[in-house]
Amino acid sequence: MSTQGFSLEPNANPKPANIRATTLENPGFGRFFTDHMAHVRWTSDAGWHGHRVCPYGPLTLDPAASVLHYAQEIFEGIKAYRHADGSVWTFRPEKNAARFRASARRLALPELSDDDFVGAIKALVAQDVDWVPTPASEADESSLYLRPFMIASEAFLGVRPANEVDFYVIASPVAAYFKGGVKPVSIWLSSNYKRASQGGTGFAKCGGNYAASLVAQREAAEHGCDQVAFLDAAENTWIEELGGMNLFFVTRDGRLVTPRLTGTILDGVTRDSLLQLARDEGLTPEERPISIDEWRDGVASGEIIEVFACGTAAVITPIGKLISEDATLEHPQGNEVAARLRKRLLDIQYGRAEDVHGWLTKL
Ligand code: COI
Repeated sequence: MSTQGFSLEPNANPKPANIRATTLENPGFGRFFTDHMAHVRWTSDAGWHGHRVCPYGPLTLDPAASVLHYAQEIFEGIKAYRHADGSVWTFRPEKNAARFRASARRLALPELSDDDFVGAIKALVAQDVDWVPTPASEADESSLYLRPFMIASEAFLGVRPANEVDFYVIASPVAAYFKGGVKPVSIWLSSNYKRASQGGTGFAKCGGNYAASLVAQREAAEHGCDQVAFLDAAENTWIEELGGMNLFFVTRDGRLVTPRLTGTILDGVTRDSLLQLARDEGLTPEERPISIDEWRDGVASGEIIEVFACGTAAVITPIGKLISEDATLEHPQGNEVAARLRKRLLDIQYGRAEDVHGWLTKL
């Protein structure tokens, strides 16, 4: 028996310690995976059952599994951090668990309890704890990225919610999401594509939202940009989010502004934490609509002094440039606020600062 009521099937062929050590030295982002994964199955007649930690490996899916046809799927992103004393912690897992349930409801998937969501993470990390990187310095933001996901695995071709579903957690040692680390990134403003609309799935963390963003992300790359920014679908005016991160604006008079949650953007855990940290730092947090004109005019006039992206994967990444079909807008100002909030957040996550908000959970 593993921990948290998950049975254990140990991997008979774990990666050799020297391969693991080399991987941890330079993990990149999401390219390498640990030796195990957690799995829980759901059927409409038996509910959630079969909690286990088993060897990481390919899944066997019937070609008619409905996730392959109708994309009935959701996921999360959450990290495990090693502190200086060797202990391993995660950050606000109950927020991810709650969002996972909200995503499940929208995608007509069964809800998973907090106990099972956090229990799966704890059971997996207990087994693969040697895969949690030890940061070499404060500048090293390596961690173990955990990817819980739920898929509709029932084999049938009719369109209806599946009666068989599988939940997994896999884990990947990671360094910074963007190759340049905290170097400012450039953003492409998508004019051809929208990410989400009212009543759609924008607030849910489902694969379909990301699939819909890929062509715009490719357009961004073709214009030499790191990420794509989306405007709202109804008025083509209001800033929503990037392909997979929330956006923040810092004003000259000390406000930290981010688009409000309208149902079309993701309720980011980092976003929510920054709104709290802003208060702690004497900034005034504001959740409200921000137009693309306000972004452009604010940067040009110096009213907006910083723009940055945030997410579990990217932490906080400054934006240095906004490129669109008709203009390139350089962001000449500094990144002091982004750097300060980034340090504050990472210091809490890595146990270098007091966890005043009770955000950490020991794994
Ligand atoms: C995360 O920040 O964890 C995400 O899921 C976004 C993705 C770009 C990796």
